[in-house]
Amino acid sequence: MHVDGTEKKWVILSVAMAFAMVGILTAYAINHNIVPPSNVETIDSVSLHLSAEFAEDKLGLRQTEDGSLVVTMVAARYGFYPQDMKVPVGTPITFRIASADVLHGVHTAGTNMNTMVVPGYVSEITTTFPKTGKFPMFCNEYCGLGHDYMWSRLWVVPKDEIKLGDTL
Ligand code: CUA
Repeated sequence: MHVDGTEKKWVILSVAMAFAMVGILTAYAINHNIVPPSNVETIDSVSLHLSAEFAEDKLGLRQTEDGSLVVTMVAARYGFYPQDMKVPVGTPITFRIASADVLHGVHTAGTNMNTMVVPGYVSEITTTFPKTGKFPMFCNEYCGLGHDYMWSRLWVVPKDEIKLGDTL
């Protein structure tokens, strides 16, 4: 079989490019400490509404016994629930998010909060919002025809505007 010299060069070049790209991604991930989520916690997506934590009346901001703040959220076609949520500025908040149906993603524009929400697992992410304001949360994993309309609002407000124990 004859392979033209120029063609051979292109084969070598394209394979080398593929390796170079994987190498760049690997180096970037190592340098920026990008890791897969470490919280592996399973949940039955079908019966979320019956669960102790993700039932409708349990969603939103709450304080745990040790004083830390936790937001429980459900992602479902096509929205995040609760749809409007207030959280305090400058305070570490742990988000626990479960999907009721398919794969979703939560990206809070203008912040570092961004995670996939895989059905069957609880996504957990802890972050601190440094400034107040209204931040849109978008779904960033294609989840169906309404994907583009899947969003909600996060209000980062001064600490004294948060009344714990209330449904926010
Ligand atoms: Cu949910 Cu896209």
